[in-house]
Amino acid sequence: MREMSHLTVKVWRGSDDGRFVVYEVPRAESQTVLDVVTHIQRRLDPSLSYRFACRVGMCGSCAMTVNGIARWTCRTHVAAVAKNGTLEIAPLSNLPVIKDLVTDMSEFFDKWARALGRFRGATTRNDDFARVEPGSAQRKAADAGIECIGCGVCYASCDVVTWRPAFLGPAALNRAWTLANDVRDTAQRERLLAVAGDAGCHACHTQGSCSERCPKKIEPTAGIAGLKRLAARAALRGELG
Ligand code: SF4
Ligand code: SF4
Ligand code: FES
Repeated sequence: MREMSHLTVKVWRGSDDGRFVVYEVPRAESQTVLDVVTHIQRRLDPSLSYRFACRVGMCGSCAMTVNGIARWTCRTHVAAVAKNGTLEIAPLSNLPVIKDLVTDMSEFFDKWARALGRFRGATTRNDDFARVEPGSAQRKAADAGIECIGCGVCYASCDVVTWRPAFLGPAALNRAWTLANDVRDTAQRERLLAVAGDAGCHACHTQGSCSERCPKKIEPTAGIAGLKRLAARAALRGELG
């Protein structure tokens, strides 16, 4: 009988046409899923590829699919997700696999650019700082989405991205929403045009897997609903033509 002091871990090896390989990993106190992957790479098979950087939930690089659900692995404890002493660890869905647990994030970040997810101001370094009232509704809406770490968990959890690969996805649209509420930004109409097309906010079915799984407790669904309202109002005013 297998010792409960060990985990049986199935890890995806190879690229999109790869397969799961089984490893036995010793249990440890407060062990995270990232600790498990690191143990395999350092002690059992140095050819295993995976990404991490900060190990404290800041950088967004360690996301993987754990027992079928996208998660940040550095802050996911084994005790919370292992089923009968087993773990299945795979790369994030909705992204091409480069090797093992490493996905190609290019399209994910290209969509941020397509959603005009960058600030465009009008002042120079010689101007005074803008003063934005912390209690204003727009500031609160922007702050609610600003802590995104770009981990891709929401994107990997989104059915619409699976069905319609052109869909901009929850992270890019959340970023667009924070900027739509930034009173200093000067690209509002252009950004609304970028997110109001077929691949934009209206494609979201609002079922909320993104909000449910975001490790930073961001609610892209709420931001996307906000973008839909802004786009509808702008369309009624004839501003999107
Ligand atoms: S609510 Fe919208 S963006 Fe979020 S997972 Fe569902 S379809 Fe994707
Ligand atoms: S919105 Fe949340 S889940 Fe999506 S990329 Fe940002 S931090 Fe990750
Ligand atoms: S390693 Fe940085 S968020 Fe997990």
